[in-house]
Amino acid sequence: MSHAEDKGSRRDFLYVATASTGAVAVGAAVWPLVDQMNPSADVLALSSIEVDISGVELGTQLTVKWRGKPVFVRRRTAEEIAAARETTMDELPDPTSQNNNNFAADASDANRALDEAGEWLVMIGVCTHLGCIPLGDGAGEFGGWFCPCHGSHYDTAGRIRKGPAPLNLLVPTAEFLSDTVVKLG
Ligand code: FES
Repeated sequence: MSHAEDKGSRRDFLYVATASTGAVAVGAAVWPLVDQMNPSADVLALSSIEVDISGVELGTQLTVKWRGKPVFVRRRTAEEIAAARETTMDELPDPTSQNNNNFAADASDANRALDEAGEWLVMIGVCTHLGCIPLGDGAGEFGGWFCPCHGSHYDTAGRIRKGPAPLNLLVPTAEFLSDTVVKLG
């Protein structure tokens, strides 16, 4: 290949690469708008779901997918509840409940749990730093959840205690339909 041909083919390659990058960028910018305007039937159908919690043992967590996100349904042990309830407000970087059912309240444990006894905790399983899914089952320095991406530690009430995440894990709109069924949304 001559020098001139070689330069030409490189220019072609650059042009093609630039054009396809442009197409991807436009697609990405337009999609969220179209998506918001036209929620599909299955998205609408999933705006609320019922979760069977009858098989969740003490000290374990069920994870369900809702509106495209993981939701943690944790059945807490007496020790986990006690640890959360002994924590004082001045130990909490985010002092608000972040609970859709009780939004203006403070982040005390009673304002985050779904039932009065505090056995059930329901939260969106998405780290409030950059959106990773935290590890559960007592992970992290506070016995709750730990997001290893950048080291965010959540306590047994899902409240941020250490690391870059700014907010407590969010508690979605949820209610008991019966002793064994929780409705999300
Ligand atoms: S996404 Fe969780 S700590 Fe960064």
